[in-house]
Amino acid sequence: MLDRRQTLRFGALGGVALFLPRVAHGASARAVDAPPFSLPLIVPPVKRPTRRTATTDYYEMTMREANAQILPGVQTPVMTYDGCFPGPTIRARPGRRVVVRQTNALGMEAVVHLHGAHVPTSSDGHPKDPIPPGAARDYVYPNRQPAATLWYHDHTHHMEAEMVFRGLAGCYLLDEPRRTGLPAGRYDLPLMLRDARFDGQGGLVFEMDDFRYRNTLLVNGRWAPYHRVAARKYRLRLINGSNARYFTLSLSDGRPMWLIASDGGLLPAPVRATSVSLSPGERVDAVVDFGDLAPGARLTLRDTDAFTGQASDLMRFDVVTRVHDPSRIPSRLGTAPGLGPASVHRDVVMGLNFSTGMFEINGKSYDMDRIDQRIKLGETEEWRIVNKDVKPSVPHNLHLHGTHFQVIDRNGVPVSGHEAGWKDTVPVPIGGEVRIRVRYERYTGLYLYHCHLLDHSSMGMMAQSEVFA
Ligand code: C2O
Ligand code: CU
Ligand code: CU
Repeated sequence: MLDRRQTLRFGALGGVALFLPRVAHGASARAVDAPPFSLPLIVPPVKRPTRRTATTDYYEMTMREANAQILPGVQTPVMTYDGCFPGPTIRARPGRRVVVRQTNALGMEAVVHLHGAHVPTSSDGHPKDPIPPGAARDYVYPNRQPAATLWYHDHTHHMEAEMVFRGLAGCYLLDEPRRTGLPAGRYDLPLMLRDARFDGQGGLVFEMDDFRYRNTLLVNGRWAPYHRVAARKYRLRLINGSNARYFTLSLSDGRPMWLIASDGGLLPAPVRATSVSLSPGERVDAVVDFGDLAPGARLTLRDTDAFTGQASDLMRFDVVTRVHDPSRIPSRLGTAPGLGPASVHRDVVMGLNFSTGMFEINGKSYDMDRIDQRIKLGETEEWRIVNKDVKPSVPHNLHLHGTHFQVIDRNGVPVSGHEAGWKDTVPVPIGGEVRIRVRYERYTGLYLYHCHLLDHSSMGMMAQSEVFA
């Protein structure tokens, strides 16, 4: 593990991060003291297929190092897909196949996982299938699942935390096949949220599990950007792309957000909310209406820190024009998850092992040569997921590859809002438990399940199921 980490730090990025002393106490060390809202929001470019057939769109992407302007006037070395931070957006449609050829120009192994996708194991980005430096791999995404906000990111063995932190993440939007009336086109805006830590020169500083020092919040790879909007409805696809930070999001003037989709796609009906919480890896789509605002109005998307209660602005929306708004929020959207009673029950216990410092599931840290459980295809199971880390209190969540699930309750209380929709990632509170029902369909083979606090999964809080027919 150490060797691999050194490869990254010395080989790929010149060792800057390793030699700089730790920032004394967490103050958001920024390389510049520019005011917030001085850079525009980046909307990651939508990638064009290199080839299209009757059934399939073909894409080609290259993983490589690049510089990004995350902070005003500063170039930060990052790891990217195609030179973009975050990576380019892929827009796909259910029922139409996508093939992405990923070429690895990073100088170290990499693996690409499409989070939230139902795919054969060969294309799931399992850590046992790394792309060697200089090589390429075709990932085949059947898109046989409901429309949803997915994202792709690195999953290299023990390295996913650092590689995602350094930039290897992007949006993959599976669009609704029919016109829904929801805001579309430029009014359908992916917002990938995360935190970061910088050294005095604007370089990213990665240290395992140092979430306390990652105090600079980024939206689509920029600190505190502004975005010019029209006075109308927008669909915001909110993605928590942080390694470890939980977000509680609201708009600064308290206006409602209509939650329309969860990890797995459209909710049965829109849910009105004034704030929404997302743990790492989770997504929610929210429609926000700026229609009552006059040009000149400004408001911010803000986060309230779950642990300190402190509010900070992630980005600012500047209303600049009035337009006709033909969009609407349909009162009926998708289908509610309704998995019947389970025939198999399992316990998934997540915790930190104090003697080894490893993060474990059911008392074991991840071993890619071990199968942790076997699941019969098509069978409904109920999992009781327990976070036993009360002291010191460590939050966890659980993410499953290859399927979506239904959350029954948390500490005995039925879940609501976007959590009542199909999910692939669910927060498990400190000392608490969550029950889910899950059924694997269509594909057999190895599928991971892990804490999506990627520092934890990189340190062993990961396991795998073998799905069999
Ligand atoms: Cu988003 Cu296995 O991860
Ligand atoms: Cu995943
Ligand atoms: Cu965890």
